[in-house]
Amino acid sequence: MSPSVIKFFMSSSFKTFLKHTAKDFHNQSVNPPVVRASTIIFKSMQHIRKTQAKAQKNPIGGHYDYGRQGTSTTYILQKILTKLEESYHVFTTPTGFGAVFLAIFSVTRPGDEIIVADPVYSPTRLLTENFLKEFNIKTTFYNPHDLKTLEKAITKKTKLIFVENPGSNSFDFQDLGKIISIAKKNKILTVMDNTWGTPYYLKPIKLGFDMSIVSATKYYSGHSDVMGGSLAVSKKVFNQVKNAERITGLRLGPDDAYLITRGLRTLDVRLDRHRENAKKVAEFLSKNKKIKLLYPYKKDSYNFRMWKKYYSGASGLMGLKIKSKNINSVRKFVNSLKLFGYGYSWGGFESLALHQEFRETGARKYLKLAKDEHLVRFHIGLEDPKDLIADIKQALRHLK
Ligand SMILES: Cc1ncc(COP(=O)(O)O)c(C=O)c1O
Repeated sequence: MSPSVIKFFMSSSFKTFLKHTAKDFHNQSVNPPVVRASTIIFKSMQHIRKTQAKAQKNPIGGHYDYGRQGTSTTYILQKILTKLEESYHVFTTPTGFGAVFLAIFSVTRPGDEIIVADPVYSPTRLLTENFLKEFNIKTTFYNPHDLKTLEKAITKKTKLIFVENPGSNSFDFQDLGKIISIAKKNKILTVMDNTWGTPYYLKPIKLGFDMSIVSATKYYSGHSDVMGGSLAVSKKVFNQVKNAERITGLRLGPDDAYLITRGLRTLDVRLDRHRENAKKVAEFLSKNKKIKLLYPYKKDSYNFRMWKKYYSGASGLMGLKIKSKNINSVRKFVNSLKLFGYGYSWGGFESLALHQEFRETGARKYLKLAKDEHLVRFHIGLEDPKDLIADIKQALRHLK
């Protein structure tokens, strides 16, 4: 591709960029080839040394001497994501949880402390609260709606603040700007799990976070057929994460990178539609007195204000806090849905439902469910929203 064409693509709007990027002009194909390689063949020993020298000088330039470092297929994906995140660089990992681990492993050492949002994704809670303890890394949890609990938890040993926004299953939105200013004042690094909004709706690095995690398994791939993760970083932490990535070998393979690149071409179109569909379903659900909607929809709530302050849109994942003395009727409501699949993960084209049991929220200190409150999670997919609403309506007859 000529430099002037590259320059034009890089300066076009993101929607246009996603449609035109990664074309293989050499082979005249719309999509890039999947380059699978363990060994990378060089023309000579001098060529190897030259490539290694280039990699040392420019570690984000795509100069590889071994397959574990990536190939042109993973490099293309990293370039696209770096533009989407407006970050210094993006590392890609075999799963979203790999990105969670890489972020924490990169910047914490025995004796350090980390502060974590109370309603994080439950495996992140297990990793920080239980596993890291064995390595003498202490975790304290803060209340996302009371940042005094965050300030109080800071000690001289605090290395990292781990934010997930919105909270997993509870969908509480936080004052992200305030968290960043607390962290900066105390010289603490920050990371945000941005899987719900993706950088299409919010760019954490631009906001001031040092690292930003997305499970590419969800909206990036969009078709429920691949796993992957991304960790966007600022220049400040780049070397630390690069070292940790090399030591752990946590890198995405080329076939998965290809599928995620393919999914990304329609990220904007799909997310726009998830948002429209979810809004229609939310409007319908908000009329039901037994249901408190956990979605940035009601204008007079703190969650709505915090969402509006930082996000340009909302994705398709929402919670329904249901008040009922009859748990069997909640189960029957969920089990009577016909268009919704029952299963974990989300972010694909299809609608999903889950009745969240104790283990998804149980260990939390704040924002617990009260007696007779139940949590149902919906992922609103790309089906016709009229059909989804009709389905929910018939299932709601069972809710007592
Ligand atoms: C918010 C969030 N972060 C991280 C992950 C982990 O991603 P993966 O399943 O790709 O490992 C998930 C998975 O559900 C998630 O919901």
